[in-house]
Order: sequence, then C-alpha cells, then structure tokens
Amino acid sequence: MEEQQVKKTYVVTGATSGIGLAVMEQLLDRGANVIGVGRSPDRCSGQLERLSEAYPRARLAYVLADLALQPGVRKAARQIAETLAAWQVEALDGLVNNAGTFAYWQTLTAEGFDTQWAVNHLAPFLLTHELLPLLERSPDARVITVSSASHYGTKLRWEDIQLLERYNPLRAYKQTKLANVLFTAELNRRLGDQSRVRAVAADPGLVNTGIGEKAGSRFARWIWLLRRRGGIPAERSAAGIVDLLSDPALPNSPHVYWKHGKPKRPNPYALDQDHGWRLWEISARMTGTG
Ligand SMILES: NC(=O)c1ccc[n+]([C@@H]2O[C@H](COP(=O)([O-])OP(=O)(O)OC[C@H]3O[C@@H](n4cnc5c(N)ncnc54)[C@H](OP(=O)(O)O)[C@@H]3O)[C@@H](O)[C@H]2O)c1
Repeated sequence: MEEQQVKKTYVVTGATSGIGLAVMEQLLDRGANVIGVGRSPDRCSGQLERLSEAYPRARLAYVLADLALQPGVRKAARQIAETLAAWQVEALDGLVNNAGTFAYWQTLTAEGFDTQWAVNHLAPFLLTHELLPLLERSPDARVITVSSASHYGTKLRWEDIQLLERYNPLRAYKQTKLANVLFTAELNRRLGDQSRVRAVAADPGLVNTGIGEKAGSRFARWIWLLRRRGGIPAERSAAGIVDLLSDPALPNSPHVYWKHGKPKRPNPYALDQDHGWRLWEISARMTGTG
C-alpha cells in the first residue's frame, strides 16, 4: 500500500483535529503530498509546524478557510489549485470531505444558511464541484465524504430542509449526514461509469474526538464527554478512510457506504435516485453551481 500512495496528492478538510488530523498524518506517513484545510490560523500554523518537523521531506500545506461560508470554500479551492501548481503537481488524487460540526443551538451563517447544513453538506458539495477539474486529471481519484451512523433512521424534511422553522440539533445533524450519502450516490450517477473519479461515504464509527465539546451547550458537552469515552481512537477511524483512498478494488465496487474500510448497507433512503436528484438540484441552487 505504501508504494501506491507515494507521490499521490490529497486534500483533507477539518485537518486540525480529530479524524481529519489523523488522516493527514497517515497520508504523510505513506509519503503522499497533503493539503489540509482548517478554519483556525493558530491551529493550522501549529499543525503545519509540528507536521513539517515530523515529516521534513513531505510536501505539506495548510489552507485557511471557514467552510461555513461559500466564498471561503471557493477561495480554498483556488488556493489548493495554486499549491498544486507551485508543487508542479497536475492532478488531485483524492478529496476527503471530513470537516463537520454539531451545533446545539441553531446559528445562521452570514449567507443565511443553517451552520450545520452549510458546513456538513453545502461545503462538501461546493468544494467537490470546484475541485472536480483537478480530480478528473488523476487516473484514479476518490472523493470521500465523512458521514455517520446517525444518517440511519431519518429522512430529509424537504419542506424545511435546513430546519429553519423547527430546529432540532440532532435531527439537523442526522439530516446533514444523510445528505452526505445522498450526495455521494448522486455524484457517482452524474459522473457515470466511465469516470475516473469515484465517490464514497465513510462511516467513521463512534470516535473519541472533541466534536461534541464544540456544540455550544454545557448539556451537549456533558453528554458528549460521557459518550466519547466509548469511542475508538481517531487513528483507527482514519485508517479505514486512508484504506478507501488506496484500495485498488474500490473503483469497481458498487458500494457507496463504507465503515472501517468495508462496505456496509446504508439507509435505503440514501440510495433513492429521486431523493438524490432532488437534493442535488436544491444544493446546486443554494451554491450557485446549477
Ligand atoms: N467523532 C465521532 O464519533 C463521529 C461520528 C460520526 C461522524 N463523525 C464525523 O467525522 C468528521 C470529523 O469529526 P471529528 O469527530 O474528528 O471532530 P473534530 O475533532 O471536531 O473535527 C472536525 C474538524 O472540522 C473542522 N471544522 C468545523 N467547522 C469548520 C468550519 N466552519 N470551517 C472549517 N473547518 C471546520 C474542525 O476545525 P477546528 O479544529 O477548528 O474545530 C475540525 O478540524 C465530521 O464530519 C463528523 O460529523 C464523527
């Protein structure tokens, strides 16, 4: 596997903590060129310094972007393209849409979108759209979007897809994670069988990270502190995602949902073609890409 990853180039969003940071480190371990995307200047520069020391010969960069905002996503895509050009690398071999958030109270972005909807769904949708020309230059590119087991047992509330009228934090999170799988399946349908770009959704399991501690509520933080104790280390979860980037069998596999490197049956709702088409059209309008 190490051989395969040498000189491949990947983008990992949410690469300043948790699963994304662990994915970034494991890709660097395998000799890949890696661009991390993060929102905090301090955390990005801190990780860049630490990782540059640990991997002195690696091609490694961080792009600063608040993925809640569409101009931020577009700017990140431009900076990624500039970084590839500076490295004299023509193609992007993989995009890991990992950045995610859980917000106990509803907050709206400056563009008026629900923050969970914007970060967890619209940002992967738009970033993938913007980076597709670079991905299509690779002989075998992968788009991995980190979903969650919480996508089971829910459906989209089409009449109020961002839950702007009746917010429920867990329902909002579940909907975005369901949207990740719907987006993945629809992306593959739109790319077609001949495409060299393949999309999969990854279920990372319950992972011992700080995601719930950033939820903006003492109650949610307390629940998560108890819950995360039963979680697996981020490194274990990341290993499954890195496998998906390198598994030679993946392009010929019909499966769209994977957990720890193995296919798993998603919520059947996520495979419904009408739902996939409808979500795509809504997302394209929301991001101005349609
Ligand atoms: N932990 C679990 O049990 C679990 C289970 C299922 C799915 N997931 C999914 O796994 C993914 C990673 O989560 P994690 O558990 O590793 O949590 P995490 O440690 O909080 O990592 C989330 C990453 O996303 C970044 N991020 C959040 N909002 C952002 C924004 N507006 N712009 C740019 N970056 C932003 C965070 O940046 P900061 O470092 O600045 O906060 C962080 O790097 C998420 O998509 C999550 O939904 C996690």
